[in-house]
Amino acid sequence: MIEIIGLHKRLGGRPVLRGVNLQVREGETLVVMGPSGTGKSVLLKHIVGLFDPDAGDIVVDGVSVPVADRRGIAAVRSKIAYVFQNSALFDSMTVRGNLLMGLPAGFCRGRQGECDELVLAALGHVNLEPDVLSLFPAELSGGMQRRVAIARAIIGKRRYVLYDEPTTGLDPVNATRINRLIARVSHEVDATSIVVTHDVTSAFFLADRIVLLADGVVQAEGTPQQLRDTDNPAVRQFLDAAPAPGPA
Ligand SMILES: Nc1ncnc2c1ncn2[C@@H]1O[C@H](COP(=O)(O)OP(=O)(O)OP(=O)(O)O)[C@@H](O)[C@H]1O
Ligand SMILES: [Mg+2]
Repeated sequence: MIEIIGLHKRLGGRPVLRGVNLQVREGETLVVMGPSGTGKSVLLKHIVGLFDPDAGDIVVDGVSVPVADRRGIAAVRSKIAYVFQNSALFDSMTVRGNLLMGLPAGFCRGRQGECDELVLAALGHVNLEPDVLSLFPAELSGGMQRRVAIARAIIGKRRYVLYDEPTTGLDPVNATRINRLIARVSHEVDATSIVVTHDVTSAFFLADRIVLLADGVVQAEGTPQQLRDTDNPAVRQFLDAAPAPGPA
């Protein structure tokens, strides 16, 4: 389980997170929604120790991330795959090289056959053909890069997968494809997922639970149905500004 307790963080001289409380339950897909600039990416980065909180705690499977030593942080990170907002593939590596980065260092030494199988399985999960393995990221479309980033995230079968805006910048067809993929992958690899998005359609499609982050705090949380039905003004303002999501 991931727990975020009273998380405060100031950046650039202004408060970004102002006491965020959140629990991510085993096996669920939790969607964090919220307007641009509200601190969604900053929140994810705290979970893997890329930011230190000003106050509060982040606890991953009982380990407090802010007080963990290097070994502790490494252990936490080994459980978490992170799909960054811009895919963040390594430009100078082929798709194969990028996928191998998703495995623990030295994992493939002496077990090439097993590694090749993992690479092919991860590609299969994201509906890519093996002929992309020798290509470089610049040779792929944005949607394909996003799929490679997801394959890299799931190849190591980590317990938690964090997705930061997985569909932003994609056309509707590719966005739908990525959403379906995330839903299927969460199921097949049995991961606990946090998906950050400001895309309401994606949120309602993917979520077991949705959290609305705005003005530095959790304004509302609940199932997609509970959020659809709520009178909470912050939720209404956010949902009514976006195209209405279809039925779950
Ligand atoms: N490294 C940093 N240094 C200073 N300020 C930062 C840093 N990272 C983020 N911020 C600021 O924190 C605020 C929240 O940023 P964050 O990237 O978390 O927003 P977001 O909710 O992910 O937005 P978006 O939906 O556009 O991705 C912004 O005002 C941003 O400028
Ligand atoms: Mg962001």
